[in-house]
Amino acid sequence: MSQWLQGRVAARRAWTDTLHSVEVDTTGLAFTAGQFARLALPAPPGDKEPMIGRPYSFVNPPHAPRHEFYFNVVPGGPLSPRLAALEPGDPLWLGPRANGFFCVSEVPQADALWCLATGTGLGPFLSILRTAEPWEKFERVVLVHAVRHASALSYGDTIAGIAREHAGAFAFVPVVSREAHAGALAGRIPALIADGRLEARAGVPLTADNAHAMLCGNPAMVDDVQATLATRGMRRHRRKEPGHVTVETYW
Ligand SMILES: Cc1cc2nc3c(=O)[nH]c(=O)nc-3n(C[C@H](O)[C@H](O)[C@H](O)COP(=O)(O)OP(=O)(O)OC[C@H]3O[C@@H](n4cnc5c(N)ncnc54)[C@H](O)[C@@H]3O)c2cc1C
Ligand SMILES: NC(=O)c1ccc[n+]([C@@H]2O[C@H](COP(=O)([O-])OP(=O)(O)OC[C@H]3O[C@@H](n4cnc5c(N)ncnc54)[C@H](OP(=O)(O)O)[C@@H]3O)[C@@H](O)[C@H]2O)c1
Repeated sequence: MSQWLQGRVAARRAWTDTLHSVEVDTTGLAFTAGQFARLALPAPPGDKEPMIGRPYSFVNPPHAPRHEFYFNVVPGGPLSPRLAALEPGDPLWLGPRANGFFCVSEVPQADALWCLATGTGLGPFLSILRTAEPWEKFERVVLVHAVRHASALSYGDTIAGIAREHAGAFAFVPVVSREAHAGALAGRIPALIADGRLEARAGVPLTADNAHAMLCGNPAMVDDVQATLATRGMRRHRRKEPGHVTVETYW
């Protein structure tokens, strides 16, 4: 287990039956907002590997004293149901280094940053938006959180705190697809972009001229939003070929 850092669960919260977050006390794991860690638990006896590890995005900003991760339980999954059963004081292992390029430093300059998340893909944006960098780099920031049911609109207090701190520069747009919910747009992100409702609600254009979009979560959403943005001339950003869209898929 020497390649793993042993941490300890400080808190776990069940937002719903299937959505949980865990806070971990550990030392020696630095990261940039938007990156992910590997979380791990010992594998059952007889497994090929001694540990079962999976990537999870940091929810906390880098300066916070504890690391926090937000995840859903995949029924029958090897790790996520076990993470949801952890109690304060339990050991939890973390990979020794953070990874990933889903970071504001990787994003080119634009007027507006659009952060588009489904489900637990909200996590890295909560880390990013609690650092100074996006507010120094962009005039306006839009956070869109798309979920099936309103009960999955987690971290309302955290988002309200970001809104208070950055009033005038920040817009939050909840999207709920499978029930009507006051204050939320109905449907899916690609259709809401195509018919202009998302921009109208945010009050910020989403165009190749003014915006960069960061997409995180369900890979089908990431594909479909990229296809919709392509009709506006917005293409995937690469270091060697600057573009307008940066993505992180969770499965
Ligand atoms: C870069 C990266 C960052 C990630 N960050 C997060 C995070 O912050 N929060 C989080 O919940 N998950 C995150 N994931 C997914 C996570 O690593 C696990 O795959 C997930 O928690 C399920 O683990 P498991 O061992 O139970 O099942 P696995 O064996 O890993 O997955 C089984 C199947 O479940 C589906 N699945 C995987 N992840 C999800 C998910 N999040 N939601 C729904 N279905 C899923 C896939 O179809 C997959 O084949 C991330 C993945 C990547 C690649
Ligand atoms: N939520 C649960 O209760 C639950 C429970 C157990 C397991 N799971 C599994 O966990 C995974 C993730 O669950 P989740 O709750 O985060 O839901 P999800 O399926 O990722 O949905 C989150 C949001 O993304 C939307 N979406 C899905 N596909 C899209 C696409 N191609 N383009 C644009 N938007 C899209 C959904 O709309 P639609 O509603 O229109 O699909 C929903 O609004 C799913 O594979 C699911 O099978 C979920």
